[in-house]
Amino acid sequence: MKIVVIGGSGLIGKKLVNNLRHHGHEVVAASPSTGVDTLTGEGLAEALTAARVVVDVANSPSFEDKAVMAFFETSGRYLLAAEAAAGVGHHVALSVVGTERLIASGYFRAKIAQEDLIKAAKIPYTIVRSTQFFEFVGSIAQSATDGQKVRLSPALVQPIVSDDVAAALVQVVVEAPLNGTVELAGPDLIRLDELVRRFLRAHRDARKVITDAHALYFGTALNDQSLTPGDNPRIGPTRFEDWVSRSIPQE
Ligand SMILES: NC(=O)c1ccc[n+]([C@@H]2O[C@H](COP(=O)([O-])OP(=O)(O)OC[C@H]3O[C@@H](n4cnc5c(N)ncnc54)[C@H](OP(=O)(O)O)[C@@H]3O)[C@@H](O)[C@H]2O)c1
Repeated sequence: MKIVVIGGSGLIGKKLVNNLRHHGHEVVAASPSTGVDTLTGEGLAEALTAARVVVDVANSPSFEDKAVMAFFETSGRYLLAAEAAAGVGHHVALSVVGTERLIASGYFRAKIAQEDLIKAAKIPYTIVRSTQFFEFVGSIAQSATDGQKVRLSPALVQPIVSDDVAAALVQVVVEAPLNGTVELAGPDLIRLDELVRRFLRAHRDARKVITDAHALYFGTALNDQSLTPGDNPRIGPTRFEDWVSRSIPQE
């Protein structure tokens, strides 16, 4: 089966492309670096010829409010129109658990816009909403850093490693479209401040995490439901503790 991975050179995209090829599929890794640009439509029609499934794991190069909205709206329109023209049978897109609870953030308003375009199009779809990737924890720390202090909410999170996201996406690709949403999460619930504390400790990073129930997460106030999945998420097996000890250089 021919599958096009939009954003095939990204963190998730690269792993997904490798996994799908390993399973014997014909895979096109599509992104600006391979001549396919969803913001302009360049290369899309050629890439999508005879494709059965398209998986969109692209991300906006800029997270500034207007830029990110323009990215997901324009890309979504070009991509879904090209898929309709090519007769694609399943559109799979990667989004974020809790997106509708985080709309004080421009990034999450743009992800909602992306999801709405998919739901309004006629192409059978599955939206896969993941929790935060382990690989994103360093960026969360960075976004909350002021000098040597990292001010974070103690809200519950259930993060997942990117390898487990890529593996779950392979499964979704071979299943029938849900015309709905499936959630992905890691095996452990943990408080956000504590997650970042463990990450910094493992990396021997001297910054100090300050617990603050009012600290904003990319512009949004959090509670224990904001970032956690609903009743039946698919669970990736990899534990944060194992990943973090593997991912730091050994002396
Ligand atoms: N980070 C998290 O914790 C998290 C959690 C849940 C869901 N997600 C979602 O996961 C998705 C993938 O994230 P990621 O971290 O794997 O992304 P990433 O590593 O930043 O990769 C982004 C990909 O998008 C491609 N891209 C950029 N502009 C493009 C354009 N105009 N046309 C086509 N492709 C374009 C890039 O291609 P080039 O390399 O050629 O520039 C790259 O392949 C995102 O949609 C994000 O919302 C993230």
